[in-house]
Amino acid sequence: KIFYTLEHPTNDLVTKLIQAEVEGEHLSKKELFSMIFLLIIAGHETTVNLIGNGILALLEHPQELEKLKENPELIKPAVEEILRFYSPVELTTNRWASEKIIINNKVISKGDMIVVSIASVNRDENIFDNPEELNISRENNPHLAFGRGIHFCLGAPLARLEGQIALSTFFQRISNVELNLKSNTPIWRPSYLMRGLQELPVRIS
Ligand code: HEM
Repeated sequence: KIFYTLEHPTNDLVTKLIQAEVEGEHLSKKELFSMIFLLIIAGHETTVNLIGNGILALLEHPQELEKLKENPELIKPAVEEILRFYSPVELTTNRWASEKIIINNKVISKGDMIVVSIASVNRDENIFDNPEELNISRENNPHLAFGRGIHFCLGAPLARLEGQIALSTFFQRISNVELNLKSNTPIWRPSYLMRGLQELPVRIS
């Protein structure tokens, strides 16, 4: 896309990034790739899936959707619960142990690679009451959908706001909407990193 856009500038974000100039300096190719990766994968793909997964979760749980419609202020805990229940990012990036540690009798040696399953920890029955239930007014919700520690998601406040605005606006504007799945289960995109829908067929009356 970058190389194509270099030759064929159009009125889009990638063209604007290529053309951006401060005191005669442009972004290097490395900076361009990093910025586009950040915007498309870290920023866009994740939030799109939060919104899609959120619509699915609420349509799958009509009582929770009714609760939200009657109490619009629940949108904040509702987005947190959707982040927990259908976490858009299922795995962290790779880590390498800097020293030997033992977790639950399992030895992790210095240098071992570790990947944390966010999808799994967010349904941990030792942490969450009834983890397999969607409860938009859940009070204690220490989910790890945005990671934890020094690599905690930089875009979390933006993603939360986008999710809250998109979901509340969607259900305010389209009140009579229901799932219209071709089979009983939704079709997820084949990815082990991102949890997002291939499609979300709905019926609007
Ligand atoms: C629902 C939406 C989002 C989810 C679920 C999400 C999830 C995550 C997770 C789990 C991590 C930590 C990965 C790790 O520890 O290995 C992370 C890091 C990051 N996210 Fe997000 N993210 C979202 C939206 C965004 C947005 C909108 C932006 C920017 C516009 C963004 C930028 C970043 C960046 C730059 C990091 C790396 C931080 C670092 O390593 O210091 N994310 N995100």
